[in-house]
Amino acid sequence: MTAPVNPLRDPQDRRLPRIAGPSGLVLFGVTGDLSRKKVMPAIYDLANRGLLPPGFSLIGFARRGWAEQDFAQIVHDSVREHARTEFREEVWHQLSEGFRFVPGDFDDDAAFDQLRRTMDELDAVRGTGGNFAFYLAIPPSFFGAVAGQLKKHALAQPGTDSWRRVVVEKPFGHDLVSARELNAILDQVFAPEAIFRIDHYLGKETVQNILAMRFANNLFEPIWNSNYVDHVQITMAEDIGIGGRAGYYDGVGAARDVIQNHLLQLMALVAIEEPTSFAADSLRVEKLKILRSVARPSRLDQTTARGQYAAGWAGGVHVPGFLEEEGISGSSTTETFAAVRLDIQTRRWAGVPFYLRTGKRLGRRVTEVAVVFKKAPYQPFGATSTEELTENALVVRVQPDEGMTIRFGAKVPGTAMEIRDVNMDFAYGGTFTEASPEAYERLILDVLLGDPPLFPQHEEVELSWRILDPIIEHWARKGSPESYPAGSWGPESAVRMLARDGRTWRRP
Ligand code: BG6
Repeated sequence: MTAPVNPLRDPQDRRLPRIAGPSGLVLFGVTGDLSRKKVMPAIYDLANRGLLPPGFSLIGFARRGWAEQDFAQIVHDSVREHARTEFREEVWHQLSEGFRFVPGDFDDDAAFDQLRRTMDELDAVRGTGGNFAFYLAIPPSFFGAVAGQLKKHALAQPGTDSWRRVVVEKPFGHDLVSARELNAILDQVFAPEAIFRIDHYLGKETVQNILAMRFANNLFEPIWNSNYVDHVQITMAEDIGIGGRAGYYDGVGAARDVIQNHLLQLMALVAIEEPTSFAADSLRVEKLKILRSVARPSRLDQTTARGQYAAGWAGGVHVPGFLEEEGISGSSTTETFAAVRLDIQTRRWAGVPFYLRTGKRLGRRVTEVAVVFKKAPYQPFGATSTEELTENALVVRVQPDEGMTIRFGAKVPGTAMEIRDVNMDFAYGGTFTEASPEAYERLILDVLLGDPPLFPQHEEVELSWRILDPIIEHWARKGSPESYPAGSWGPESAVRMLARDGRTWRRP
């Protein structure tokens, strides 16, 4: 059963609801954090919003020893705990009728045979039409085994009028070489257009809004260049520590965990030229140009900083340092804070540094992009009139307080000409009645629709590693990172890094 094709349908027509056609998802790693906190709740939220087909089906694949009811129970609990939209019995009932569970290990041929039979059965009773996405919510070290099994059991091969896709999560390797190896594994089994790499930041409304703000308006683009922009600061600060993720995080660190993907993608969206359209290919071409134009970072002691959180206070509670966290070796040199200065060598951006920073256990949770402008070349007011005036800035507040702020100077009411900074705010919450969907809702829907603009391609991943590899290698030669107290804004070296350029970090 395939959806009727309307030849007049314009995929960009926003008046038409984007509803997935007949399909199902096979979820590997159902017991993991990602599945429970993000994937399963997002599937329920999509169903609740009426964006999944009535016969949508979810197959959980996990090790033996689980019963089918366990799977339904796990999804139920994760939905109850983490879904964004209200729990409705009738939605749950219809959705859960399409749940199946296949027990087995990744090297277990019989389990993959059973997976095929289960998919056939769902095609017959739920009308999934042979359309399945395989979601690998598992450590990359297992990708090879699973991809190999999917190939061996002819599960990755679509029929003439059906599709098969694979969804992978970061880490896309831990350096350029391993990223290539990982890609080669997937490449042997799936066509490039069937591989969906998730960078969940691209699924966030406020991140997509960077494109809307820049290219749907006439106001910003004329000043979006080195004539007017002094520098750009991209901050992704978290107040949480590594929680229960020691096994993943130790040896990975802040740069690999989020700069390689989320922050470089954000930088690319801020810096790209206008794409010819929002089709995946047009967007990708522009992002690639930016990632290729990043100068190989030099003087790394001065243009990068890294740190590791020590014990301190977070939200009024005393919290342990990284080295005291459960599962972390006392001699770990993994960084939990990273800052880098990148220079994009294009006519538009030459001389405009992009400062990227991220860290765990910082003062508060905030992600923002701040475009800081040069000061007016001349001030006709007396020096004391403008002593409280800083640079104009445009801040995209990615989260949690979604919106945008423009900072500029205004006259303070009174008899004297006193000018100081004021803010003009746009807040999603105050403007739109509908709450922003979770990034995973948007991205899973796009996978089912086969709509790729929000998914990075392998070449972008490679170019990102090319930028980071020399930095991470440099840090590895230097030994332990500088420590910073939990609840602070990072190590002193990060402050010095900007001070050397005559700038300061924003305190969001
Ligand atoms: C993930 C990182 O990609 O993003 C985590 O692996 C981080 O370390 C998370 O906590 C943050 O996501 P968000 O959407 O809460 O900003």
